[in-house]
Parts: sequence; structure tokens; C-alpha cells
Amino acid sequence: MLPSVVVLLMFISGTCAENPAIQFVLTNKGLQKGKHRVTDWIQQHLENVTLPDISSDIHIPILGNIHYTLTDISITKCDLPEPSVEFYPNVTGFKTSISGLSVALTGEWETHYHIIHDGGSLDMAVFDLNVISAVELGKDAGGHLSVSSISCDAQVGDVDVRFHGGDSWIFQPFVKYFKRQIIGKIQKSICPSVEEMIVTLESHLQAMNVSFDVNQLLSLDLNLTSVPVVDATSLNLGLKGEFYNIRTHSEPPFKPKSFTLPEQQGYMMSVGLSEFTLNSASYGYYSAGLLQVDINDSMIPPYCPVHLNTTSMGRYIPQLPKLFPGLPMSLKVYARQVPVFFFQSDVVKLGLQGSVKAFAIQRNGTQTPLLTLDVDSGFSGKMWIIDGRLKGMVKMDNVTLKLVASEVGSFSTDTMEKDLRLGLPVVLAKTVNKVLAQGLVLPRFKQAQLVNSVLKVKEGFMAVSSDVEVYF
Ligand SMILES: *[C@@H]1O[C@H](CO)[C@@H](O)[C@H](O)[C@H]1NC(C)=O
Ligand SMILES: *[C@@H]1O[C@H](CO)[C@@H](O)[C@H](O)[C@H]1NC(C)=O
Ligand SMILES: *[C@@H]1O[C@H](CO)[C@@H](O)[C@H](O)[C@H]1NC(C)=O
Ligand SMILES: *[C@@H]1O[C@H](CO)[C@@H](O)[C@H](O)[C@H]1NC(C)=O
Ligand SMILES: *[C@@H]1O[C@H](CO)[C@@H](O)[C@H](O)[C@H]1NC(C)=O
Ligand SMILES: *[C@@H]1O[C@H](CO)[C@@H](O)[C@H](O)[C@H]1NC(C)=O
Ligand SMILES: *[C@@H]1O[C@H](CO)[C@@H](O)[C@H](O)[C@H]1NC(C)=O
Ligand SMILES: *[C@@H]1O[C@H](CO)[C@@H](O)[C@H](O)[C@H]1NC(C)=O
Repeated sequence: MLPSVVVLLMFISGTCAENPAIQFVLTNKGLQKGKHRVTDWIQQHLENVTLPDISSDIHIPILGNIHYTLTDISITKCDLPEPSVEFYPNVTGFKTSISGLSVALTGEWETHYHIIHDGGSLDMAVFDLNVISAVELGKDAGGHLSVSSISCDAQVGDVDVRFHGGDSWIFQPFVKYFKRQIIGKIQKSICPSVEEMIVTLESHLQAMNVSFDVNQLLSLDLNLTSVPVVDATSLNLGLKGEFYNIRTHSEPPFKPKSFTLPEQQGYMMSVGLSEFTLNSASYGYYSAGLLQVDINDSMIPPYCPVHLNTTSMGRYIPQLPKLFPGLPMSLKVYARQVPVFFFQSDVVKLGLQGSVKAFAIQRNGTQTPLLTLDVDSGFSGKMWIIDGRLKGMVKMDNVTLKLVASEVGSFSTDTMEKDLRLGLPVVLAKTVNKVLAQGLVLPRFKQAQLVNSVLKVKEGFMAVSSDVEVYF
């Protein structure tokens, strides 16, 4: 009974599991570069660390037991040696170790010996501190990346304490007797501090937004779809990568397909963007009714030999100038279906299924419907990144016309179709391709910039591998 329930549960969870539409991979090269930033962060935090008070009894020959307390111990100087950071598949996380760290501290001391109270200041040096910490990465219910401490081990090699003031000269010679005690206390206080830092980091991650408004219409969800995957050489995060219409938040009628982002150890990171992500944006615009445009003659480029008036259109519809002599025209162009992008090896294809309604504009302003045409077209494009710019080139593969309604009688669409096949590539060249040839500057972030980026279009997704320059 039980095994079949387990199988059923696995089946259900398997089928419900969402494929990530965007994948992010951090390589070992990226991890090692990122380490410097983390080292700075730890150094900053270490300088504010106050050690807990150390209080104990020591037995000094002849004198007997003396009770001592070391208070207000804080770090005055700490030079962090280059830590080592590596992917740690065993716990789906990272392992960090720092060895040979030396720290200078100051503080106060107090002793109680029978009724004699004494006190003063102290300088302490901690030598050869080794810390090994392992953190586990995970995903919380809201799809945030989470980080938690899995293990921590701290070893202190040696301690030197100088007491100043009071009758410190009396017990300074006995430091060697209670050094081990102090070393033990310090060792015990390090891991709680490390864990506190990890908790701070975790609270920053929890506070991060996983959904971003891209513009007034669309938002992009970037929450994790599953727990991170860590192997010996990389970290892979699967993100939802779906655009939503902010108002309706409706799901498109298609789902992301799984894809495998190839490893690119030569770059610090890679991002895989599936065709689903683009198509979800397309659906967002389509379902908001935004994929439509009204065209009048003022929008027809001057190099176009045909104009939007009933005389000019007589070329295609011979009866039109007789029925509506000398009138300007307007067109309503709209998508009949969600425009769909297909990513194939080195090519991005786009299928557009649209319709055009044509109107004659009467002298009193009334728009008289003339006809409706279905216009189906296919485009294919190449994209690449060079010198930090996204460039590309689009060509029209085909366009077909079909007359679906006519208030002016029937006519053959052959001439119009032939002219469109000749004319649209010219329009593309003068508009989209002009922009793509110039290139679009890659997005810059507040403190980071992509460098040495390459883009490859693969079956179902495109991969951008890049190094990152970080400014702090
Ligand atoms: C360290 O303490 C100083 C003074 O209290 C404060 O200004 C600074 O922000 C603290 N730094 C960190 C990293 O918490
Ligand atoms: C990781 O786990 C494997 C098997 O569980 C073990 O053999 C290996 O020593 C572990 N690696 C580290 C670095 O702890
Ligand atoms: C991602 O976030 C959205 C809203 O923020 C939520 O509806 C969805 O369930 C989340 N998905 C995952 C996989 O956490
Ligand atoms: C998170 O998103 C909300 C709403 O979109 C916004 O008001 C808030 O400023 C964002 N927070 C951060 C830290 O970006
Ligand atoms: C054409 O459309 C534009 C924008 O909709 C409008 O500003 C302009 O007046 C229109 N021109 C004509 C001749 O109707
Ligand atoms: C119609 O368009 C043609 C160009 O094809 C132009 O020469 C003519 O003046 C236009 N007629 C009107 C009434 O705008
Ligand atoms: C505008 O003119 C057309 C053709 O002359 C006519 O059929 C229509 O009734 C007129 N509309 C208005 C509102 O006057
Ligand atoms: C364009 O599509 C039509 C109809 O599907 C087809 O007959 C024609 O051969 C196609 N032309 C090209 C260049 O692919």
C-alpha cells in the first residue's frame, strides 16, 4: 500500500514541478572573483565584532584561586588572509575556510581575590586562527534563495595577553597558566559570530524582491522553481522567468520546456533564457489587447510608392477608386493570435498571425469599412553580442494574404502579396535592422557590468555567457 502511495505522490509532485524558464549558472571562475567581495564584507563585519565577556577562576600557585573577568573585548585590527571558497555538493552549498588569521583586540580586565578588587586594560593578540564554515543553499516558500549554516569549526593557535594598570604585574607572569582557558573561550565564541553573519545574509536574501515590474504593463517573476543545484564546479539556479500582465496575472496557454544550459567554465556566469520567457511577454501584451495599431497615410514612410488612399489602392482593388473616389484610408492592424518565438540552433523565428481591416475615411470623418485581410508572416533573425552590444539581423521568411471579408466585392490578392514580399524587407532594413545593426547596449546594473559576453541561440533557449565587472 505505502509504496504505491509514495509512487503516486512522486508522480504528482513530478508532474506539478515547474520547469525553470531562466537558468543562472555561477562557475568556479565566478565564485573565485566573488570571493573578494565576500572577503571585504567579512572584514567589515569582523571589525564590529565584540567578543563575549570571558570570566573564570584560575589557580595560581601560593596565591590560590583568583576570579577574573575580561570585558569589552573588541577587535581593533584584523587582516583577513585570502580565504578559500569552494562549491560543496555534499550540502548543496559552499565551504569557506580561512587559515592563519591574526587578530588584535583590546578590552578591560577585572580580578577578585578575596576582598581585593583590581582592574585595568588589556591588549590581546590571537594568532593562527582557522575557521571552516559550510553553508547550505535552499529555497523558501516564496521562492527566495536561502542560506543557512551547516557546520562551523574554529581553532585558535595561540593567544598573547598583556595586562595594563592595577596590580597586573603580579599576575602577568601567570598568563601561561590560563592561556588555554582563554583560547577555549575565544574558540567557542567564533562560530556563533559566523552564524550571526550568515543569519544577516539570510535576512537580506529574504528581503529581496523576486518579482519586478518591467514597465506599466508587465512584471517578471524570478523566484526559484526548485532548490539550487551545486556540483563540484558550479551552482545552478532555476528561476521562474515568466512575464505576467500586471492587471490580469493570467497564465499563458503554454508551459516552459526543460533545457540544459551547457557549462562554460571559461566565463564567470551563464544565463539561459528560454523561448517561453519571451513568449510569456508576448502573451502579456496580446492578452492586454495591446498588439494592435491604427495606421493612416501620415505613418506610411515617404519612400513607399503606394499610399493609403482609394486612388493609390486601385492598383490592387480595381473597383475601389470607382466606389470611393479620392478618399484617404486607414488600417487597423492586430494580432489574431499570440505571436510566438521559436529558438532554433543559431536562429530565432517569429510567427505573426495578424489581420488588417481597411477603411475609407469619408469627408465627414466617418470610417467606412472596406475589407478584412488575414496576413500571416514569418521572420527569422540572428543575434549576437559584440563589444558589449546586442546586435542582430532580421529577415522576412514569407508573408501570405487571405481576403476574409469584403464590402467592395472580390479581388485577387496576388499583386498585393507580391508587393508585400518585395516591400516588407525594405521596411525591415530601414527600421528594425538599422537599430539592430547599431546594437543595443547590454543592461548595466548599479554596481556591475557584463564584459566578454557571448550569446548562442540553441534549441528552445538562448545562452549568454559572460564575465562580470563589479564596482564597489
Ligand atoms: C560598524 O560600527 C560602526 C559604528 O558603530 C557603524 O557605523 C558601521 O556601520 C558598522 N559596520 C557594520 C558593517 O555593521
Ligand atoms: C562528501 O560526501 C562523500 C560521500 O558522502 C564523502 O565521501 C566525501 O568525503 C564528502 N566530501 C567532503 C569534502 O566532505
Ligand atoms: C513565485 O512567486 C509567485 C508570486 O510572487 C507565486 O505565485 C509563485 O507560486 C512562486 N513560485 C514558486 C515556484 O515559488
Ligand atoms: C519590492 O517591490 C515592491 C513592489 O513592487 C516595491 O515597492 C519595493 O520597493 C521593492 N523593494 C526592493 C527592495 O526593491
Ligand atoms: C494619423 O494618426 C496619427 C496618430 O494616431 C494622428 O496624430 C494623425 O492626425 C492622423 N492623421 C490623419 C491624416 O488622420
Ligand atoms: C493618393 O496617393 C498617391 C500616391 O500613391 C498620391 O499621388 C495622391 O495625391 C494621393 N491622393 C490623395 C487624394 O491623397
Ligand atoms: C458621412 O458621409 C457618408 C457618405 O457621404 C454618409 O453615408 C454618412 O451617413 C455620413 N455620416 C454622417 C454622420 O453624417
Ligand atoms: C510562402 O507561403 C506560401 C503559402 O504557404 C507558399 O506557397 C510559398 O511558396 C512560400 N514562399 C516562400 C518564399 O517560402
